[in-house]
Amino acid sequence: MKAAVLCEQPGDLVIEELVIDKPGPQEVLIQTVGAGLCHSDLHFMEGLFRTKLPSVMGHESAGIVEAVGADVSYVKPGDPVVACLSIFCGQCRQCLSGNPHRCTNGRATSRSRDDSSRLQREDGTPVDQMARLGGFAEEMLVHQNGVVKVTPDMPLEKACLIGCGVTTGFGAAVRTAAVPVGATVCVIGCGGIGLSAIQGARVAGAGRIIAVDMNIESLETARVMGATDTINANDVENVVEAVKELTGGGVEYSFEAIGLKKTAEQAFEMLEIGGTATVIGMVPSSTKVEIRGIDLLSEKKLQGSMMGSNQFRTDIPQMIDLYLNGRLLLDEMVSATISLDQVNEGYNWMREGTVARTVITF
Ligand SMILES: NC(=O)c1ccc[n+]([C@@H]2O[C@H](COP(=O)([O-])OP(=O)(O)OC[C@H]3O[C@@H](n4cnc5c(N)ncnc54)[C@H](O)[C@@H]3O)[C@@H](O)[C@H]2O)c1
Ligand SMILES: [Zn+2]
Ligand SMILES: [Zn+2]
Repeated sequence: MKAAVLCEQPGDLVIEELVIDKPGPQEVLIQTVGAGLCHSDLHFMEGLFRTKLPSVMGHESAGIVEAVGADVSYVKPGDPVVACLSIFCGQCRQCLSGNPHRCTNGRATSRSRDDSSRLQREDGTPVDQMARLGGFAEEMLVHQNGVVKVTPDMPLEKACLIGCGVTTGFGAAVRTAAVPVGATVCVIGCGGIGLSAIQGARVAGAGRIIAVDMNIESLETARVMGATDTINANDVENVVEAVKELTGGGVEYSFEAIGLKKTAEQAFEMLEIGGTATVIGMVPSSTKVEIRGIDLLSEKKLQGSMMGSNQFRTDIPQMIDLYLNGRLLLDEMVSATISLDQVNEGYNWMREGTVARTVITF
């Protein structure tokens, strides 16, 4: 089967023919239908975060179950599924205390080192999977706790977006920050994640949603998603001052959806007294985010969010209902649909900041 492989860091993806194993115990073989391009893969391609190589990139995918291994009772061949990297063991303290997205026992849902690799090159070289999914591939072999069954009414080339970007952004607003009705919100960065945070804030009933980006089209899309105000970071001298001016002193909830020190600090600085800043973006591992200590005295909070603090087996079907009822917009988020061979081109568009989400269809 064909897959997009990262062979060196930094590096572009190489389309290779790989061998995929039969599903082992608890594993599910999926025929991929759609895969979204998330910025996290690009961070790895740019070498900002290290990973085992070679590795099939992609972690925002949906498809149809082709075959299941022993002890799989949750799905059967023919079931449509969305994959999610928040693979839970169901037994560790985090899983059992209602935070399966923080599962600490990845070993329980992975193959052991002594087992053969799920993916290999034809010469037998083991090939890793991004986030234990490897979604930029015609087929995926994943643990059954990394998939959720979805209604056959849901188009899978749209459902894939929920696997990471929508779950992450929407969940950051609804679950991590729990934005209440009427709140003032600012979202910095309007790619797939930021646009989903805007939608989460809208569905939660936020009163005012300010979108910040440097790209005009992204800001137009942000309005469609529910932003009530937009700020083009290129047009103002100081984003924080611009937000404070619009709101008469700052927002109650801010979200950073880029992964930069500067914008993470902006998110905190634009809070009103008692406000909460949620950093969703992946800030490079060696970078420190700085805040003024005195601001903590006014009960301002800075927090992170992992995959929107999801419980994806129940959250994703809910989000699909919202989509099917017209309350969650996915079609409007897709700027381009491409084939697997065009994946590097898709990432070049992301580097230029000209697209919301690009989807590979198989
Ligand atoms: N926390 C998590 O669990 C999680 C999950 C998925 C993705 N992420 C991270 O979320 C971030 C966003 O991902 P994405 O796929 O939406 O990325 P993206 O590249 O599609 O979107 C980023 C947006 O930010 C804008 N931007 C860039 N610099 C800016 C600046 N200085 N001021 C204002 N706007 C600016 C760009 O124009 C673009 O629209 C990435 O860092 C990604 O790795 C985190
Ligand atoms: Zn992602
Ligand atoms: Zn666990």
